[in-house]
Amino acid sequence: MTMRAALAMAAACLGWPGVAAAAPTTVEINPGGPPSVVVERIGATPKVSARIDPTEATFRPDPALAALGKRIFFDTRLSQPQGTSCASCHDPLRAFTSTLNAPSLAGPRTPQGSRPGRFSARTAPSLLYVRYVPRRHFYQDDDAPFASPFGGLFADGRADTLVEQARGPLFDPDEMNNASPQSLLRKLRGTDLAPAMSLAFGPRVLRDPDQAVKGIGQALQAYLQSDEMAPFSSRFDDYLRKRTPLSPQEMRGLALFKNPDKGNCMSCHTLSDTASRPERSLFTDFGYDAIAVPRNLSLPANRDPRRFDNGLCRTAAQLRWPEPNQWCGYFRTPGLRNVAVRQSFMHNGVFTTLRDAVAFYATRSTDPAKWYHGRPTFDDVPAAYRGNINVNSTPMNRRPGTTPALTDEEIDEISAFLGTLTDARYVAAMPKPAMK
Ligand code: HEC
Ligand code: HEC
Repeated sequence: MTMRAALAMAAACLGWPGVAAAAPTTVEINPGGPPSVVVERIGATPKVSARIDPTEATFRPDPALAALGKRIFFDTRLSQPQGTSCASCHDPLRAFTSTLNAPSLAGPRTPQGSRPGRFSARTAPSLLYVRYVPRRHFYQDDDAPFASPFGGLFADGRADTLVEQARGPLFDPDEMNNASPQSLLRKLRGTDLAPAMSLAFGPRVLRDPDQAVKGIGQALQAYLQSDEMAPFSSRFDDYLRKRTPLSPQEMRGLALFKNPDKGNCMSCHTLSDTASRPERSLFTDFGYDAIAVPRNLSLPANRDPRRFDNGLCRTAAQLRWPEPNQWCGYFRTPGLRNVAVRQSFMHNGVFTTLRDAVAFYATRSTDPAKWYHGRPTFDDVPAAYRGNINVNSTPMNRRPGTTPALTDEEIDEISAFLGTLTDARYVAAMPKPAMK
């Protein structure tokens, strides 16, 4: 122990006035960034003293490990039956979100897993920029009445890190469908990935199934953290860095997106068009909200009218947060970069056009029956949790029958602006201008 540490410890024990107590607990919440100071724990989740800043993150994954992760990502031999890789649902030609096959497009609009007729319960987000998603934490803004949850992977934050996340698809019966770590390891051993895994993690990784799963997760994390997965090459990025002009329609869309009395989108989908650093504009604050998207009647699980996907509250209960049901209906706010290449939108894939996703915000509160299958209220939230839904944020805070906050033309303008968030190499994947 150093002299200073010894003194600090003595001071903490004796309660000497004016001398710092034991060093505050810190935890790595911001991947690639500095540690965060923990002020309290809420259940199993740390509450931290400062907002996570993505511009403080730098990522230098080991290139050999990232290359191995990339090989695993595209390898179709690790599913049951074989034929499905991570890339099957996270298509590199579509900004690493799904290209849906015909049965999916005609059905649930979520990606198909390794078995025909089996589909993911949710839509697959783009994996570009996923490296910036922080670990789960609570943070309380100075003017906020209580602490709010942020971060965690998946729409319900059930995975804390990318290493942990990889287990999800590998063992989900609707996705890669491996029965167990043992059976996955048997598959791995039969491929040329085995020597590479052994080289990266030591020979034990090929004997111990849990080590193998962890190693696969670490390699995938290194790949997803590489610069390749955060290109920042959209027209909006050119606008941020070089002031390359957007079209007048797109500029009007940007203004509406920011305007707290119009779209108010920026209050959750964070951006800073005065900062040249594109990390300031990830179009999410990594927080959670309850916007009550309509029920997707085509999801196989939704044939049961009593079945609901309640999002964050299941994670909240597992993590022993107080009153977990207050989080039913909450989903993590997704980043909107490359959103225009998607074939279905929202966690449940209920919308098939970007324009519908935007229009939903404009008229959800003024004409609810239009969205909720003729019903006057949220049809994908159980009655017990409807009080959790956000009815206060503009533009979702109006009364039925009143004028929406956005006109049809303004909805088109915001949609056009969102098209500027597509990275250069995926522009061809955007639907041809459906705008009038
Ligand atoms: C059958 C389709 C499918 C396959 C295969 C698949 N995923 Fe996904 N992925 C999804 C879906 C659906 C989600 C969203 C699930 C949710 O929110 O509950 C998702 C979410 C993720 C996320 C979280 C992103 C975020 O912003 O929270 C990551 C990371 C990810 N997948 C990586 C992978 C990796 C790595 C593999 C391969 C080991 C993989 N996926 C295989 C469908 C798939
Ligand atoms: C109160 C916070 C909040 C506000 C304000 C908000 N959003 Fe969202 N947005 C969310 C959340 C949460 C989701 C995910 C909902 C889900 O999947 O159920 C989402 C999802 C989306 C999606 C779908 C993304 C995808 O990958 O499928 C789009 C598009 C979108 N928002 C655009 C907008 C626009 C445009 C505005 C302004 C008119 C806006 N949002 C305002 C929180 C917000």
